[in-house]
Amino acid sequence: LERALVAPTHELVQVVRGRRSGLAVTLAIHSSALGPAAGGCRIVHYPDPAAPVTDALRLSAAMTVKNALAGLDNGGGKAVVALPTPERPAGAARAALLHDVGDAIEALGGRYVTGPDVGSGPADMAVIGERTAHVCCRPAADGGSGDSSPHTARGVLAALGAVVEEAFGSPGLAGRTFGVIGLGAVGARVARLLREAGARLTVTDVAPAARGLAAELGATWADPGDALAAPVDVLVPAALGGLLTPRTVPLLRCAAVAGPANNQLDAPGTADLLADRGVLWAPDVVVSAGGVVHATGVELRREPPERSAERVDGIAATLREVFRLARAERITPAAAADRLAALRVRRAASGTVRE
Ligand code: PHE
Repeated sequence: LERALVAPTHELVQVVRGRRSGLAVTLAIHSSALGPAAGGCRIVHYPDPAAPVTDALRLSAAMTVKNALAGLDNGGGKAVVALPTPERPAGAARAALLHDVGDAIEALGGRYVTGPDVGSGPADMAVIGERTAHVCCRPAADGGSGDSSPHTARGVLAALGAVVEEAFGSPGLAGRTFGVIGLGAVGARVARLLREAGARLTVTDVAPAARGLAAELGATWADPGDALAAPVDVLVPAALGGLLTPRTVPLLRCAAVAGPANNQLDAPGTADLLADRGVLWAPDVVVSAGGVVHATGVELRREPPERSAERVDGIAATLREVFRLARAERITPAAAADRLAALRVRRAASGTVRE
């Protein structure tokens, strides 16, 4: 945070006190070089009072890379609402905070477009939409593209094909073992799709109720504390970020890590630790792009859904390009992804080719 203040990394960072809720709403626009910043609205509790701002900074910067690599004409931004307690507010209190978010977004005049993220969903987008039009993924009945998680999951499957090909030399998912960490909206769908593709599964979730889904899928259940060390071909992080650290990387017993959780590395240097251990890491900014690709395609660019689906499947080609550059330049896939994204943002900023 201090570094971001001394040498500003973001175009705009704003903390507004919600008029109705009294809660702090943080909006961060990292870059709008490619177009209006797009990124979800996270509504969670943070034990540390400075953490929401730091999180908004990191998440919005990741959205710049995600959107650039996905070929979208959108920059990166994020909204974060810090809840005072871990309980999800409901009813009037929830509507109040969502209206506060909507007002804050509207005040930016279209420089930032929001969508769902951890702790928010299509119904919440409809309420935000009562205060601003700069919102994606409202339910279809309200004119939006609805739940983005099926599209994110589709993109993850495409990515996993490229990952398996890079790690094992052939793209087939059948017979491979995957360890899915987190069976939320996206993780549960990914687990189902993997099962349908003939893969073998180990799964975990902090909610014990997810054991029901594990049984239904014929998956092995791992305790949340042990899942990182499960002996699988590919580990699929589908919950909160920050799980790959200097402490956890030595515990891994997989050939590759690839999943939709945002910000999986605790710090950039952890990408080197993964490479040193011979673990292939697929940058989360590439793997997780399906939701934002579909929502912005259908709602902001008015593409037919088939075109958006093609773009989501294109995540596999983008990931192959990242792996190719990493191999050619002897850098990590993380560094390769950053390089490709920076190239596109720089080109747009200097007003040259606009792909
Ligand atoms: N939460 C999504 C992400 O991290 C962001 C999103 C924005 C999704 C807009 C849909 C629409 O990529």
